Amino acid sequence: MSKTILFLNGPNLNMLGVREPEIYGATTLAEVEKISEAQAAMRGLVIDFRQSNTEGELVSWIQEAIEKFDGIIINPAAYTHTSVAILDALKMVKGPVIELHISNPHTRESFRHKSYVSLAATGIIAGLGVAGYRVAIDAMAELLN
Ligand code: DQA
Repeated sequence: MSKTILFLNGPNLNMLGVREPEIYGATTLAEVEKISEAQAAMRGLVIDFRQSNTEGELVSWIQEAIEKFDGIIINPAAYTHTSVAILDALKMVKGPVIELHISNPHTRESFRHKSYVSLAATGIIAGLGVAGYRVAIDAMAELLN
């Protein structure tokens, strides 16, 4: 049976393509989802790709993953730098957790240098643009092998 991955996107990532394109590029989230699904299929994985602007919804989805998914890839967006609730939820996940960022937060404002999520992450991918989504799926496939 195929392994299933919960792929979460945090606040404002629904605005990809429109939002600060000089940082995040011109690709929309719908396009990123298609690219991610194709990459997952190539690696024999099934992904459930979701986006929310709400911290509590992301927490509930992570809780769902404890029983239902083999791993999580998460771009927590701004909640990376603020959310103890998302960190605490991720700590309950038994499978691999990959933290993903389109930009490299370490080259940006100092408030982006701190990640709560990293404390629960198996690995971190940042700064590769939306290509990082494909890289994250490849990394997850390796981790689950
Ligand atoms: C981001 C980086 C965060 O600092 C920012 O708040 C985002 C997107 C990224 O993908 O580069 O919303 O997670």
